[in-house]
Amino acid sequence: MAADKCVHGVPPSLSAKVVGSFAYLTIRDRLPTILTKVVDTIHRNKNKFFEEYGEEGIQAEKQTIGLLSKLRNELQTDKPVLALADSLQDAESWNQYLQRHQGPQGDPDSVSWFQSPWLYVECYMYRRIQEALWLNPPISDYDVFNEAKTQSYFESQQAVMALCTYLGGVNKNKEDLSKNQLLDTFNKLLKVSLWGNKCDLSISAGQKNSQKTSPLDSLSSLQPFILVDDSNLVWLTLISAQRPGQSGKITAGRVDIVLDNAGFELVSDLVLADFLISSGLAREVQFHGKCFPWFVSDVTVNDFQWTIRQTMAANHMWMSKSGVQWQSYVKEGVWSYHDHPFWTQPHEFSDMAADAPDLYATLQGADLVLFKGDLNYRKLTGDREWDHTAGFDTALRGFTPAPLCSLRTLKANVQVGLQPGQGEKLTSQEPDWMTSGKYAVIQFHSPKSEQ
Ligand code: F6P
Ligand code: MG
Repeated sequence: MAADKCVHGVPPSLSAKVVGSFAYLTIRDRLPTILTKVVDTIHRNKNKFFEEYGEEGIQAEKQTIGLLSKLRNELQTDKPVLALADSLQDAESWNQYLQRHQGPQGDPDSVSWFQSPWLYVECYMYRRIQEALWLNPPISDYDVFNEAKTQSYFESQQAVMALCTYLGGVNKNKEDLSKNQLLDTFNKLLKVSLWGNKCDLSISAGQKNSQKTSPLDSLSSLQPFILVDDSNLVWLTLISAQRPGQSGKITAGRVDIVLDNAGFELVSDLVLADFLISSGLAREVQFHGKCFPWFVSDVTVNDFQWTIRQTMAANHMWMSKSGVQWQSYVKEGVWSYHDHPFWTQPHEFSDMAADAPDLYATLQGADLVLFKGDLNYRKLTGDREWDHTAGFDTALRGFTPAPLCSLRTLKANVQVGLQPGQGEKLTSQEPDWMTSGKYAVIQFHSPKSEQ
């Protein structure tokens, strides 16, 4: 493993400097493949840019491709990470972050693709893709991953129909559900949302990775692959957030969902959020998405709105009913979508209170925060070489805005909170257990447990 040592008990960051590690293979193979696909997508859309912007569109296409090819070359030859040259809102904080990593001497060669923290340079690649577009104004807003995201939604249609049909049945009979049935439905939909995280397009370097079958049918066979299952603590948190309102009627708490991928995963999150509201387990859901296209399949505001519109317009009764319901939740403010530049920055979440205090304060207003996906888990734990038995609370390093839960399939080699020997056993049986997406965790922490 890495030669780096723990500093004040905090293990070193995962990095591509460990030759052969998953981080190394990602930087060496997966990221250049993603960049090549981005270049191809932009080139394939040359005519569209010409139709929309004339000669200026063609020039923008050429220049953007030039910048992206330069970026790919910098990555492949382990060049220093450069300061951002666009004047977007977040550029300054990215550049400050770079200075922080360059140390007090400001050595420009000290931060590079294969030598620096993997989390940092991987996030940086997506920001540089955005820079290449933003420096070429007519195509600045072009989402290079849009085609892949919409395709992933359409390819999951059967699974989306099955899930919306199930939701429709639950909502129709919601008045008659016993507490046990409510708990059973909650567990099912939480786990569908968990396994929805298998469908990200970054792990497959943009290759198709959609949900073909009904996820509800596979839940019991998938249960043994959930390494930590704190779903009972999530349920108890929702129940304890219920309080009598002014009229004496019970009011539930606010749930925030820090979204991950568009396509089937987003639908699974919307279905869970719908159930939370319709069952009275939550009074409000705030969704947090990305300000710009990120890690191939992550949700932006356009993806969020498009998915709801598309579901509304479907030629399937339960899908369209679900879409209509979701639209009205948004209209009524029961659901709201938020983005904040911090979600598209390279920081570990333990930096949030200091570097994005407004976002930290927002999350403090929630009764439960669900963090979807692998990248959020990496940021929760700082993407470090933690011992598998280190506590989740230890790895969070003070990031405790509210009771929180990570719903994540394992796609990067960081995992905490396991039983002694559990990680070793898995490693001996399946060396790639941390990166295959086959295993998952529902891992909970509450600030209350620290008191
Ligand atoms: O490219 C690496 C990575 O960060 C992996 O950890 C993970 O496969 C993927 O990108 C993002 O996964 P998710 O969409 O679940 O955050
Ligand atoms: Mg993602």
